[in-house]
Amino acid sequence: MSFFYVLALLAAKVCLVTAQTYSNCNPLNKTCPADQALGTNHTWYFNSTVDDTIWNVTNDQIYYTDEGANFTIAEKLQSPTLQSNFYIFFGIVESHVKMAKGGGVVSSVVLESDDLDEIDWEWVGYNTSGVQSNYYGKGNDSSWDRAGYHYVPNADTEFHNYTTYWTAEKLEWWIDEELVRTLNYEDALGGKNYPQTPSNIRYGVWPAGDPSESLGTIEWAGGEINYTAGPYTMVVQKVRVHDFHSGKEYEYTNHSGSWESIKVVAGNSTTVTELNKVPKETLAEKWAKLSTGAKTGIYVAIAVVGAGAASAFIFFCLKQRKSGRLEHALNDAKWDSERTEMDNFQSEWKQSEWRHKPRGYQPVN
Ligand SMILES: *[C@@H]1O[C@H](CO)[C@@H](O)[C@H](O)[C@H]1NC(C)=O
Ligand SMILES: *[C@@H]1O[C@H](CO)[C@@H](O)[C@H](O)[C@H]1NC(C)=O
Ligand SMILES: *[C@@H]1O[C@H](CO)[C@@H](O)[C@H](O)[C@H]1NC(C)=O
Ligand SMILES: *[C@@H]1O[C@H](CO)[C@@H](O)[C@H](O)[C@H]1NC(C)=O
Ligand SMILES: *[C@@H]1O[C@H](CO)[C@@H](O)[C@H](O)[C@H]1NC(C)=O
Ligand SMILES: *[C@@H]1O[C@H](CO)[C@@H](O)[C@H](O)[C@H]1NC(C)=O
Ligand SMILES: *[C@@H]1O[C@H](CO)[C@@H](O)[C@H](O)[C@H]1NC(C)=O
Ligand SMILES: *[C@@H]1O[C@H](CO)[C@@H](O)[C@H](O)[C@H]1NC(C)=O
Ligand SMILES: *[C@@H]1O[C@H](CO)[C@@H](O)[C@H](O)[C@H]1NC(C)=O
Ligand SMILES: *[C@@H]1O[C@H](CO)[C@@H](O)[C@H](O)[C@H]1NC(C)=O
Ligand SMILES: *[C@@H]1O[C@H](CO)[C@@H](O)[C@H](O)[C@H]1NC(C)=O
Repeated sequence: MSFFYVLALLAAKVCLVTAQTYSNCNPLNKTCPADQALGTNHTWYFNSTVDDTIWNVTNDQIYYTDEGANFTIAEKLQSPTLQSNFYIFFGIVESHVKMAKGGGVVSSVVLESDDLDEIDWEWVGYNTSGVQSNYYGKGNDSSWDRAGYHYVPNADTEFHNYTTYWTAEKLEWWIDEELVRTLNYEDALGGKNYPQTPSNIRYGVWPAGDPSESLGTIEWAGGEINYTAGPYTMVVQKVRVHDFHSGKEYEYTNHSGSWESIKVVAGNSTTVTELNKVPKETLAEKWAKLSTGAKTGIYVAIAVVGAGAASAFIFFCLKQRKSGRLEHALNDAKWDSERTEMDNFQSEWKQSEWRHKPRGYQPVN
Protein backbone atom coordinates (compact mmCIF):
# COMPACT_ATOMS: atom_id res chain seq x y z
CA MET A 1 0.00 0.00 0.00
CA SER A 2 1.50 3.27 -1.04
CA PHE A 3 1.02 5.98 1.50
CA PHE A 4 1.20 8.75 -1.07
CA TYR A 5 -0.91 6.98 -3.62
CA VAL A 6 -3.78 6.65 -1.19
CA LEU A 7 -3.18 10.15 0.11
CA ALA A 8 -3.49 11.43 -3.42
CA LEU A 9 -6.83 9.67 -3.74
CA LEU A 10 -7.85 11.06 -0.40
CA ALA A 11 -6.81 14.52 -1.51
CA ALA A 12 -8.82 14.21 -4.66
CA LYS A 13 -11.82 13.04 -2.68
CA VAL A 14 -11.93 15.48 0.18
CA CYS A 15 -9.62 18.20 -1.10
CA LEU A 16 -7.55 17.64 1.99
CA VAL A 17 -3.92 17.87 1.16
CA THR A 18 -2.66 19.86 -1.75
CA ALA A 19 0.94 19.14 -0.82
CA GLN A 20 0.43 15.40 -0.86
CA THR A 21 0.00 14.94 -4.55
CA TYR A 22 2.37 12.60 -6.25
CA SER A 23 4.85 15.20 -7.44
CA ASN A 24 4.67 18.66 -8.84
CA CYS A 25 6.34 17.77 -12.09
CA ASN A 26 6.80 14.25 -13.38
CA PRO A 27 10.01 14.06 -15.43
CA LEU A 28 8.66 11.08 -17.39
CA ASN A 29 6.26 13.39 -19.21
CA LYS A 30 7.79 16.81 -18.80
CA THR A 31 11.00 18.73 -18.52
CA CYS A 32 11.21 19.57 -14.83
CA PRO A 33 13.44 21.81 -12.77
CA ALA A 34 16.48 20.00 -11.34
CA ASP A 35 16.24 18.52 -7.84
CA GLN A 36 18.18 20.18 -5.07
CA ALA A 37 20.81 17.72 -3.80
CA LEU A 38 21.74 17.00 -0.23
CA GLY A 39 25.27 16.12 -1.34
CA THR A 40 26.57 15.25 2.10
CA ASN A 41 26.09 13.14 5.22
CA HIS A 42 24.24 14.78 8.07
CA THR A 43 22.29 13.99 11.24
CA TRP A 44 19.29 16.03 12.28
CA TYR A 45 17.89 15.92 15.79
CA PHE A 46 14.20 16.64 15.82
CA ASN A 47 14.14 17.89 19.41
CA SER A 48 13.84 21.49 18.26
CA THR A 49 12.33 23.26 15.27
CA VAL A 50 14.05 22.10 12.11
CA ASP A 51 15.57 24.53 9.63
CA ASP A 52 12.66 25.32 7.34
CA THR A 53 14.89 25.92 4.36
CA ILE A 54 15.90 22.25 4.61
CA TRP A 55 12.75 20.56 5.91
CA ASN A 56 9.22 21.61 5.08
CA VAL A 57 6.09 20.87 7.08
CA THR A 58 3.82 20.14 4.15
CA ASN A 59 0.67 19.40 6.09
CA ASP A 60 -0.74 20.24 9.52
CA GLN A 61 1.61 20.86 12.39
CA ILE A 62 4.54 19.18 14.13
CA TYR A 63 5.32 19.51 17.82
CA TYR A 64 8.93 19.42 18.93
CA THR A 65 9.71 17.91 22.33
CA ASP A 66 12.93 16.84 24.07
CA GLU A 67 12.34 13.38 22.70
CA GLY A 68 11.80 14.32 19.09
CA ALA A 69 9.18 15.55 16.65
CA ASN A 70 5.59 14.59 17.44
CA PHE A 71 3.40 13.82 14.47
CA THR A 72 -0.08 13.75 15.94
CA ILE A 73 -3.57 12.94 14.74
CA ALA A 74 -5.88 14.54 17.27
CA GLU A 75 -8.77 15.39 14.95
CA LYS A 76 -10.50 13.92 11.96
CA LEU A 77 -8.34 13.77 8.83
CA GLN A 78 -5.28 15.34 10.38
CA SER A 79 -2.15 14.09 8.71
CA PRO A 80 1.00 15.96 9.70
CA THR A 81 3.81 15.52 7.20
CA LEU A 82 7.41 16.66 7.02
CA GLN A 83 9.34 16.59 3.78
CA SER A 84 12.95 17.27 2.94
CA ASN A 85 13.56 19.98 0.39
CA PHE A 86 16.69 18.11 -0.63
CA TYR A 87 16.98 14.91 -2.63
CA ILE A 88 19.43 12.05 -2.36
CA PHE A 89 20.62 10.01 -5.31
CA PHE A 90 21.24 6.67 -3.63
CA GLY A 91 22.35 6.72 -0.03
CA ILE A 92 21.44 5.91 3.54
CA VAL A 93 18.45 7.08 5.50
CA GLU A 94 18.57 6.13 9.16
CA SER A 95 15.38 7.07 11.03
CA HIS A 96 14.86 6.65 14.76
CA VAL A 97 11.12 6.30 15.19
CA LYS A 98 8.35 5.36 17.58
CA MET A 99 5.25 4.39 15.65
CA ALA A 100 1.78 5.68 16.47
CA LYS A 101 -0.30 3.00 18.14
CA GLY A 102 -3.94 2.59 17.19
CA GLY A 103 -6.12 0.80 14.66
CA GLY A 104 -6.61 2.77 11.46
CA VAL A 105 -3.46 4.82 11.98
CA VAL A 106 -0.43 4.45 9.72
CA SER A 107 3.00 5.93 10.44
CA SER A 108 5.50 6.12 7.64
CA VAL A 109 8.94 7.00 6.38
CA VAL A 110 8.95 7.37 2.63
CA LEU A 111 11.56 8.11 0.01
CA GLU A 112 9.77 9.50 -3.02
CA SER A 113 11.14 10.67 -6.35
CA ASP A 114 9.60 13.06 -8.85
CA ASP A 115 8.75 10.19 -11.18
CA LEU A 116 7.22 8.22 -8.30
CA ASP A 117 9.87 5.74 -7.36
CA GLU A 118 9.15 5.01 -3.74
CA ILE A 119 10.79 3.23 -0.81
CA ASP A 120 8.73 2.76 2.36
CA TRP A 121 8.69 1.89 6.00
CA GLU A 122 5.09 1.68 7.20
CA TRP A 123 3.76 0.94 10.65
CA VAL A 124 0.15 -0.11 10.85
CA GLY A 125 -1.10 1.12 14.21
CA TYR A 126 -2.87 -2.02 15.43
CA ASN A 127 0.35 -4.01 15.42
CA THR A 128 2.95 -2.54 17.71
CA SER A 129 5.41 -5.34 17.08
CA GLY A 130 5.79 -5.05 13.35
CA VAL A 131 6.78 -2.82 10.46
CA GLN A 132 6.22 -3.21 6.73
CA SER A 133 8.77 -2.51 4.02
CA ASN A 134 7.74 -1.69 0.50
CA TYR A 135 8.85 -0.20 -2.80
CA TYR A 136 7.36 1.08 -6.05
CA GLY A 137 8.91 1.89 -9.40
CA LYS A 138 7.46 4.78 -11.40
CA GLY A 139 4.26 4.71 -9.36
CA ASN A 140 3.44 1.18 -10.47
CA ASP A 141 1.19 -0.07 -7.69
CA SER A 142 -0.64 -2.64 -9.76
CA SER A 143 0.66 -5.34 -7.49
CA TRP A 144 0.05 -5.46 -3.77
CA ASP A 145 2.41 -8.32 -3.01
CA ARG A 146 5.62 -6.39 -2.64
CA ALA A 147 5.31 -5.62 1.06
CA GLY A 148 7.70 -7.20 3.54
CA TYR A 149 6.66 -7.87 7.14
CA HIS A 150 9.21 -7.54 9.91
CA TYR A 151 9.07 -8.14 13.63
CA VAL A 152 10.06 -5.25 15.94
CA PRO A 153 9.42 -5.39 19.68
CA ASN A 154 7.61 -2.45 21.32
CA ALA A 155 7.71 -0.34 18.20
CA ASP A 156 5.37 2.19 19.82
CA THR A 157 7.21 2.67 23.11
CA GLU A 158 10.86 2.29 22.04
CA PHE A 159 12.83 4.10 19.42
CA HIS A 160 14.24 1.73 16.86
CA ASN A 161 16.71 2.43 14.12
CA TYR A 162 15.08 1.87 10.71
CA THR A 163 17.71 2.20 8.04
CA THR A 164 17.38 2.16 4.28
CA TYR A 165 20.56 1.44 2.37
CA TRP A 166 20.07 2.24 -1.29
CA THR A 167 22.38 1.83 -4.27
CA ALA A 168 21.88 1.28 -8.00
CA GLU A 169 22.40 -2.45 -7.45
CA LYS A 170 20.41 -3.20 -4.33
CA LEU A 171 18.09 -1.90 -1.69
CA GLU A 172 18.37 -2.98 1.93
CA TRP A 173 16.10 -2.48 4.92
CA TRP A 174 17.76 -2.69 8.32
CA ILE A 175 16.16 -2.68 11.77
CA ASP A 176 18.64 -1.75 14.46
CA GLU A 177 21.72 -3.79 13.54
CA GLU A 178 19.89 -6.42 11.55
CA LEU A 179 19.42 -6.71 7.80
CA VAL A 180 15.77 -7.71 7.33
CA ARG A 181 15.30 -7.44 3.58
CA THR A 182 17.28 -7.10 0.37
CA LEU A 183 15.92 -6.22 -3.04
CA ASN A 184 18.25 -6.57 -6.01
CA TYR A 185 17.79 -4.39 -9.06
CA GLU A 186 17.07 -7.38 -11.29
CA ASP A 187 14.46 -8.78 -8.91
CA ALA A 188 12.26 -5.73 -9.32
CA LEU A 189 10.78 -6.64 -12.70
CA GLY A 190 14.21 -6.60 -14.32
CA GLY A 191 14.82 -3.16 -12.85
CA LYS A 192 11.61 -1.61 -14.22
CA ASN A 193 10.12 -1.46 -10.73
CA TYR A 194 13.41 -0.65 -9.04
CA PRO A 195 13.53 2.76 -7.30
CA GLN A 196 16.46 4.54 -8.93
CA THR A 197 15.83 8.26 -9.22
CA PRO A 198 16.69 11.09 -6.77
CA SER A 199 14.30 11.04 -3.84
CA ASN A 200 13.25 13.27 -1.02
CA ILE A 201 12.33 12.03 2.43
CA ARG A 202 8.89 12.25 3.98
CA TYR A 203 7.72 11.52 7.51
CA GLY A 204 4.06 11.34 8.23
CA VAL A 205 1.18 9.84 10.12
CA TRP A 206 -2.05 9.22 8.33
CA PRO A 207 -5.61 8.14 9.27
CA ALA A 208 -5.79 5.31 6.73
CA GLY A 209 -8.79 4.00 8.66
CA ASP A 210 -10.87 7.09 8.03
CA PRO A 211 -14.36 6.10 6.80
CA SER A 212 -13.72 8.04 3.58
CA GLU A 213 -11.10 5.46 2.63
CA SER A 214 -11.71 2.39 0.51
CA LEU A 215 -12.65 -0.78 2.36
CA GLY A 216 -9.37 -2.39 1.34
CA THR A 217 -7.36 0.43 2.81
CA ILE A 218 -9.37 0.48 6.03
CA GLU A 219 -8.90 -3.25 6.41
CA TRP A 220 -5.17 -3.00 5.77
CA ALA A 221 -4.99 -0.24 8.37
CA GLY A 222 -6.62 -2.46 10.95
CA GLY A 223 -10.12 -1.08 10.89
CA GLU A 224 -11.71 2.31 11.22
CA ILE A 225 -9.85 4.88 13.25
CA ASN A 226 -11.52 5.90 16.52
CA TYR A 227 -10.76 9.60 16.73
CA THR A 228 -12.23 9.81 20.25
CA ALA A 229 -9.63 7.37 21.55
CA GLY A 230 -6.78 9.55 20.25
CA PRO A 231 -4.56 11.45 20.00
CA TYR A 232 -2.28 9.20 18.00
CA THR A 233 1.37 10.18 17.88
CA MET A 234 4.38 9.05 15.91
CA VAL A 235 7.70 10.38 17.23
CA VAL A 236 10.81 10.90 15.12
CA GLN A 237 13.83 11.38 17.31
CA LYS A 238 16.57 11.85 14.74
CA VAL A 239 17.53 11.05 11.22
CA ARG A 240 20.87 10.56 9.56
CA VAL A 241 20.94 10.99 5.82
CA HIS A 242 23.94 10.17 3.68
CA ASP A 243 23.69 11.12 0.02
CA PHE A 244 25.97 8.91 -2.06
CA HIS A 245 26.53 11.72 -4.56
CA SER A 246 28.00 15.06 -3.75
CA GLY A 247 26.88 17.82 -5.99
CA LYS A 248 24.50 20.71 -6.30
CA GLU A 249 21.57 19.30 -8.22
CA TYR A 250 20.15 16.23 -9.94
CA GLU A 251 18.85 16.61 -13.44
CA TYR A 252 16.77 14.24 -15.58
CA THR A 253 18.44 14.32 -19.00
CA ASN A 254 15.65 12.37 -20.71
CA HIS A 255 12.25 10.86 -19.94
CA SER A 256 13.45 7.30 -19.30
CA GLY A 257 13.52 7.53 -15.51
CA SER A 258 16.62 5.33 -15.42
CA TRP A 259 19.41 6.14 -13.01
CA GLU A 260 21.81 6.40 -15.95
CA SER A 261 19.81 9.35 -17.22
CA ILE A 262 20.40 11.40 -14.07
CA LYS A 263 23.07 14.04 -14.36
CA VAL A 264 24.81 15.17 -11.18
CA VAL A 265 25.38 18.91 -11.49
CA ALA A 266 28.63 19.82 -9.73
CA GLY A 267 28.80 22.46 -7.03
CA ASN A 268 27.82 23.06 -3.43
CA SER A 269 24.21 22.28 -2.69
CA THR A 270 22.10 24.94 -1.03
CA THR A 271 21.56 22.46 1.80
CA VAL A 272 25.30 22.15 2.44
CA THR A 273 25.62 25.92 2.32
CA GLU A 274 22.77 26.25 4.81
CA LEU A 275 24.28 23.59 7.10
CA ASN A 276 27.61 25.39 7.09
CA LYS A 277 26.10 28.66 8.25
CA VAL A 278 27.24 29.36 11.79
CA PRO A 279 24.15 29.39 13.95
CA LYS A 280 23.50 32.74 15.59
CA GLU A 281 23.93 32.49 19.33
CA THR A 282 20.99 33.53 21.40
CA LEU A 283 21.35 35.74 24.44
CA ALA A 284 20.55 32.74 26.62
CA GLU A 285 23.36 30.72 25.05
CA LYS A 286 25.83 33.57 25.61
CA TRP A 287 24.70 33.79 29.21
CA ALA A 288 25.19 30.04 29.59
CA LYS A 289 28.76 30.38 28.34
CA LEU A 290 29.72 33.01 30.92
CA SER A 291 31.94 31.83 33.75
CA THR A 292 30.30 31.08 37.06
CA GLY A 293 32.19 34.02 38.58
CA ALA A 294 30.80 36.46 36.08
CA LYS A 295 27.31 35.11 36.52
CA THR A 296 27.60 35.30 40.28
CA GLY A 297 28.80 38.87 39.96
CA ILE A 298 25.82 39.76 37.90
CA TYR A 299 23.46 38.03 40.32
CA VAL A 300 25.07 39.87 43.22
CA ALA A 301 24.77 43.14 41.38
CA ILE A 302 21.11 42.49 40.85
CA ALA A 303 20.61 41.47 44.46
CA VAL A 304 22.34 44.63 45.70
CA VAL A 305 20.07 47.01 43.91
CA GLY A 306 17.02 45.16 45.06
CA ALA A 307 13.81 44.01 43.52
CA GLY A 308 12.91 47.31 41.92
CA ALA A 309 16.20 47.46 40.15
CA ALA A 310 15.88 43.83 39.18
CA SER A 311 12.80 44.55 37.20
CA ALA A 312 14.57 47.55 35.79
CA PHE A 313 17.45 45.25 34.91
CA ILE A 314 15.08 43.12 32.91
CA PHE A 315 13.78 46.24 31.25
CA PHE A 316 17.37 47.19 30.55
CA CYS A 317 18.06 43.82 29.02
CA LEU A 318 15.03 44.00 26.80
CA LYS A 319 15.82 47.54 25.79
CA GLN A 320 19.50 47.01 25.28
CA ARG A 321 18.95 43.89 23.29
CA LYS A 322 17.91 46.17 20.45
CA SER A 323 21.12 48.14 20.47
CA GLY A 324 23.03 44.93 21.02
CA ARG A 325 24.90 46.45 23.91
CA LEU A 326 24.29 43.71 26.43
CA GLU A 327 24.92 41.14 23.77
CA HIS A 328 28.19 42.84 23.04
CA ALA A 329 28.98 43.02 26.71
CA LEU A 330 28.28 39.36 27.20
CA ASN A 331 30.09 38.34 24.07
CA ASP A 332 33.21 40.46 24.19
CA ALA A 333 36.20 38.21 23.65
CA LYS A 334 38.48 40.73 25.35
CA TRP A 335 36.99 39.88 28.71
CA ASP A 336 39.78 37.62 29.75
CA SER A 337 39.26 37.79 33.46
CA GLU A 338 36.17 37.56 35.54
CA ARG A 339 37.01 40.84 37.16
CA THR A 340 37.21 42.64 33.85
CA GLU A 341 33.95 41.04 32.88
CA MET A 342 32.23 42.51 35.86
CA ASP A 343 33.83 45.92 35.42
CA ASN A 344 32.81 46.12 31.83
CA PHE A 345 29.37 44.90 32.54
CA GLN A 346 28.83 47.41 35.27
CA SER A 347 30.24 50.34 33.37
CA GLU A 348 28.24 49.49 30.32
CA TRP A 349 25.24 49.24 32.51
CA LYS A 350 25.84 52.63 34.04
CA GLN A 351 26.73 54.33 30.80
CA SER A 352 23.67 53.03 29.10
CA GLU A 353 20.95 55.33 27.94
CA TRP A 354 18.88 53.83 30.61
CA ARG A 355 17.11 56.91 31.83
CA HIS A 356 13.82 55.43 32.90
CA LYS A 357 15.09 54.54 36.32
CA PRO A 358 12.52 53.29 38.73
CA ARG A 359 12.29 55.09 42.03
CA GLY A 360 14.74 53.73 44.56
CA TYR A 361 17.38 52.77 42.03
CA GLN A 362 20.95 53.05 43.28
CA PRO A 363 23.95 52.45 41.02
CA VAL A 364 25.97 49.38 41.93
CA ASN A 365 29.28 49.82 43.84
C1 LIG B 1 6.65 23.77 1.55
O1 LIG B 1 5.38 23.18 1.51
C2 LIG B 1 4.35 24.07 1.13
C3 LIG B 1 3.05 23.32 1.28
O2 LIG B 1 3.07 22.13 0.57
C4 LIG B 1 4.60 24.54 -0.30
O3 LIG B 1 3.61 25.44 -0.69
C5 LIG B 1 5.97 25.20 -0.37
O4 LIG B 1 6.27 25.53 -1.70
C6 LIG B 1 7.03 24.27 0.17
N1 LIG B 1 8.28 24.98 0.24
C7 LIG B 1 9.38 24.52 -0.32
C8 LIG B 1 10.61 25.35 -0.12
O5 LIG B 1 9.40 23.49 -0.96
C1 LIG C 1 2.91 10.61 -17.32
O1 LIG C 1 3.34 9.42 -17.93
C2 LIG C 1 2.94 8.25 -17.26
C3 LIG C 1 3.58 7.05 -17.92
O2 LIG C 1 4.63 7.41 -18.72
C4 LIG C 1 1.43 8.16 -17.29
O3 LIG C 1 1.01 7.00 -16.60
C5 LIG C 1 0.86 9.38 -16.64
O4 LIG C 1 -0.55 9.37 -16.75
C6 LIG C 1 1.39 10.63 -17.28
N1 LIG C 1 0.96 11.77 -16.49
C7 LIG C 1 0.54 12.90 -17.02
C8 LIG C 1 0.15 13.97 -16.08
O5 LIG C 1 0.47 13.06 -18.23
C1 LIG D 1 28.10 10.34 8.69
O1 LIG D 1 27.79 11.10 9.86
C2 LIG D 1 27.69 10.34 11.05
C3 LIG D 1 27.27 11.28 12.15
O2 LIG D 1 26.19 12.02 11.76
C4 LIG D 1 29.00 9.65 11.35
O3 LIG D 1 28.85 8.85 12.49
C5 LIG D 1 29.41 8.81 10.17
O4 LIG D 1 30.69 8.28 10.40
C6 LIG D 1 29.43 9.61 8.88
N1 LIG D 1 29.69 8.70 7.79
C7 LIG D 1 30.44 9.01 6.76
C8 LIG D 1 30.63 7.94 5.76
O5 LIG D 1 30.93 10.11 6.63
C1 LIG E 1 18.86 17.76 20.98
O1 LIG E 1 19.55 16.52 21.09
C2 LIG E 1 20.95 16.62 20.86
C3 LIG E 1 21.54 15.23 20.88
O2 LIG E 1 21.12 14.51 21.98
C4 LIG E 1 21.58 17.53 21.90
O3 LIG E 1 22.94 17.68 21.63
C5 LIG E 1 20.90 18.90 21.84
O4 LIG E 1 21.40 19.72 22.85
C6 LIG E 1 19.39 18.75 21.99
N1 LIG E 1 18.78 20.06 21.75
C7 LIG E 1 17.75 20.51 22.49
C8 LIG E 1 17.22 21.84 22.11
O5 LIG E 1 17.28 19.86 23.40
C1 LIG F 1 4.32 14.12 22.21
O1 LIG F 1 3.88 12.76 22.15
C2 LIG F 1 3.93 12.07 23.38
C3 LIG F 1 3.45 10.67 23.11
O2 LIG F 1 4.38 9.97 22.36
C4 LIG F 1 3.05 12.74 24.41
O3 LIG F 1 3.19 12.10 25.63
C5 LIG F 1 3.44 14.21 24.54
O4 LIG F 1 2.53 14.86 25.38
C6 LIG F 1 3.44 14.88 23.18
N1 LIG F 1 3.90 16.26 23.33
C7 LIG F 1 3.48 17.26 22.56
C8 LIG F 1 4.02 18.61 22.86
O5 LIG F 1 2.72 17.09 21.65
C1 LIG G 1 2.84 -7.90 13.93
O1 LIG G 1 3.72 -7.99 12.83
C2 LIG G 1 4.80 -8.89 13.02
C3 LIG G 1 5.66 -8.83 11.76
O2 LIG G 1 4.91 -9.10 10.64
C4 LIG G 1 4.29 -10.29 13.28
O3 LIG G 1 5.39 -11.11 13.60
C5 LIG G 1 3.31 -10.27 14.44
O4 LIG G 1 2.74 -11.53 14.58
C6 LIG G 1 2.22 -9.25 14.20
N1 LIG G 1 1.37 -9.16 15.38
C7 LIG G 1 0.07 -9.05 15.29
C8 LIG G 1 -0.66 -8.91 16.58
O5 LIG G 1 -0.52 -9.03 14.24
C1 LIG H 1 3.78 -3.07 -12.86
O1 LIG H 1 4.34 -4.08 -12.04
C2 LIG H 1 3.79 -5.37 -12.24
C3 LIG H 1 4.51 -6.33 -11.30
O2 LIG H 1 4.47 -5.89 -10.00
C4 LIG H 1 3.98 -5.82 -13.66
O3 LIG H 1 3.30 -7.06 -13.84
C5 LIG H 1 3.42 -4.78 -14.61
O4 LIG H 1 3.72 -5.13 -15.94
C6 LIG H 1 4.02 -3.42 -14.31
N1 LIG H 1 3.42 -2.40 -15.15
C7 LIG H 1 4.14 -1.62 -15.91
C8 LIG H 1 3.37 -0.58 -16.67
O5 LIG H 1 5.35 -1.69 -15.96
C1 LIG I 1 21.44 2.26 12.63
O1 LIG I 1 21.48 1.07 11.87
C2 LIG I 1 22.42 1.08 10.80
C3 LIG I 1 22.27 -0.23 10.08
O2 LIG I 1 22.49 -1.29 10.93
C4 LIG I 1 23.81 1.27 11.37
O3 LIG I 1 24.74 1.37 10.31
C5 LIG I 1 23.87 2.53 12.20
O4 LIG I 1 25.13 2.65 12.82
C6 LIG I 1 22.80 2.49 13.27
N1 LIG I 1 22.79 3.76 13.96
C7 LIG I 1 22.94 3.88 15.27
C8 LIG I 1 22.90 5.25 15.83
O5 LIG I 1 23.10 2.90 15.98
C1 LIG J 1 -13.82 4.99 20.76
O1 LIG J 1 -13.06 5.35 21.86
C2 LIG J 1 -13.82 5.84 22.95
C3 LIG J 1 -12.84 6.36 24.00
O2 LIG J 1 -11.84 5.41 24.26
C4 LIG J 1 -14.69 4.71 23.47
O3 LIG J 1 -15.48 5.18 24.54
C5 LIG J 1 -15.59 4.22 22.34
O4 LIG J 1 -16.31 3.10 22.76
C6 LIG J 1 -14.77 3.84 21.13
N1 LIG J 1 -15.63 3.56 20.00
C7 LIG J 1 -15.60 2.43 19.35
C8 LIG J 1 -16.53 2.30 18.20
O5 LIG J 1 -14.82 1.53 19.64
C1 LIG K 1 18.45 8.32 -21.46
O1 LIG K 1 19.78 8.70 -21.13
C2 LIG K 1 20.63 7.62 -20.84
C3 LIG K 1 21.97 8.19 -20.41
O2 LIG K 1 22.42 9.12 -21.33
C4 LIG K 1 20.78 6.71 -22.04
O3 LIG K 1 21.59 5.60 -21.72
C5 LIG K 1 19.40 6.21 -22.46
O4 LIG K 1 19.49 5.48 -23.62
C6 LIG K 1 18.45 7.39 -22.68
N1 LIG K 1 17.12 6.86 -22.87
C7 LIG K 1 16.27 7.38 -23.71
C8 LIG K 1 14.94 6.71 -23.83
O5 LIG K 1 16.54 8.37 -24.38
C1 LIG L 1 32.06 25.08 -2.43
O1 LIG L 1 32.33 25.64 -1.17
C2 LIG L 1 33.70 25.68 -0.87
C3 LIG L 1 33.90 26.16 0.56
O2 LIG L 1 32.74 26.70 1.09
C4 LIG L 1 34.44 26.57 -1.87
O3 LIG L 1 35.80 26.59 -1.60
C5 LIG L 1 34.20 26.02 -3.27
O4 LIG L 1 34.76 26.89 -4.23
C6 LIG L 1 32.72 25.88 -3.55
N1 LIG L 1 32.57 25.18 -4.82
C7 LIG L 1 31.80 25.62 -5.80
C8 LIG L 1 31.77 24.79 -7.05
O5 LIG L 1 31.15 26.65 -5.71
